[in-house]
Amino acid sequence: MYSKIISFIRDTYQSNDFIPLHTPTFSGHEREYVMDTIDSTFVSSVGEYVNKFENTIARFTGAGCAVATMNGTAALHIALRMAGVQSGDLVITQPLTFVATCNALHHMGAEPVFIDVSRHTLGLCPLAVNSWLEEHAVIRDKTCIHRDTGRVIRAVVPMHTFGHPVQLDELLSICELWHLMLVEDAAESLGSYYKGRHTGTLAPFSALSFNGNKIVTTGGGGMILCQDQEAGSRAKHITTTAKRPHSYEFYHDEPGFNYRLPNLNAALGCAQMEGLPACLHKKRKLAEHYAQFFADSILQFVKEPEYAHSNYWLNAVICPDKVFRDQLLEKTNSAGVMTRPVWTLMHRLPMFEQALRGKLENAEWLEERVVNLPSTPTGAIA
Ligand SMILES: Cc1ncc(COP(=O)(O)O)c(C=O)c1O
Repeated sequence: MYSKIISFIRDTYQSNDFIPLHTPTFSGHEREYVMDTIDSTFVSSVGEYVNKFENTIARFTGAGCAVATMNGTAALHIALRMAGVQSGDLVITQPLTFVATCNALHHMGAEPVFIDVSRHTLGLCPLAVNSWLEEHAVIRDKTCIHRDTGRVIRAVVPMHTFGHPVQLDELLSICELWHLMLVEDAAESLGSYYKGRHTGTLAPFSALSFNGNKIVTTGGGGMILCQDQEAGSRAKHITTTAKRPHSYEFYHDEPGFNYRLPNLNAALGCAQMEGLPACLHKKRKLAEHYAQFFADSILQFVKEPEYAHSNYWLNAVICPDKVFRDQLLEKTNSAGVMTRPVWTLMHRLPMFEQALRGKLENAEWLEERVVNLPSTPTGAIA
């Protein structure tokens, strides 16, 4: 089975060389636009490409406003702040995520509460969130309070794992019922839709990432998605040192952040966005190709939930057990085909091991079984 998988991936990529997990593709105007910023000298945080990139993302996602940041963690940090998360708050999130989700919470002085994921979506499970709240929370003065500690539970932060949208309607209803804010960590899901709406546009505030491993890259970069211009202006103000606009005077009206995306990086993003529709098309072809191959096998290929249209950012399989997973990782990586286990669950990391949590059976089950497969949309299918 292992050698069949290796041969299949090698045939797919038509390559006998090392096959990485995901590499960016620069086949459009990337070089031209980046050179343009150098020629113009506008390489830093002021420049036309930053505005253009923001408008392009807002148009593509349907968000009311998009504000570019230097990375996705910074975008999530400000999205949480915009959502009203304060120091000392508790925030519900999933343990199966990249550490940046929890780091952003930590930067706000908040602490995560880990609730289980669904085996189907790999993202935060609404049923588990609601039952944990019923057991541990109470509403006082329209504020959700953790019964045992009296601390405020402020928000819910689901993450669209590998690009697959979580059950947003159910999570939005829970947030309404319990007076919680929803903040989507949509870092991995540019080009993914929940019931026809782009991920990151259902919550009032969300974050995207354009790290080098993402479907669109700016080298490093992120975007805060907001529902309206007013919120967008506020997010831009906080991320640009809270400087009042003036052609030569420096006046800052609150402690701000220097989080704005440089024009140089935004130029790369503008070119990448031109290629996104074609990239998404190839991603789906690659995912279908994998799905067919694994259809009758003991490995379960992770498919988009029935209500969703996923970007299939990272393809994944669920192995029958940990022994199989370990063998698969070992054999593929030593044959030069890069595969990867899912992240170590957040509650096992030293800085989050004291965090409150519900039962995490599904996350722990998936942690032992999920393997990511090469997902660059190139090779035979492209
Ligand atoms: C789930 C998730 N959240 C947040 C981030 C943070 O993005 P960045 O690396 O751009 O800071 C990433 C990606 O790296 C991610 O995968």
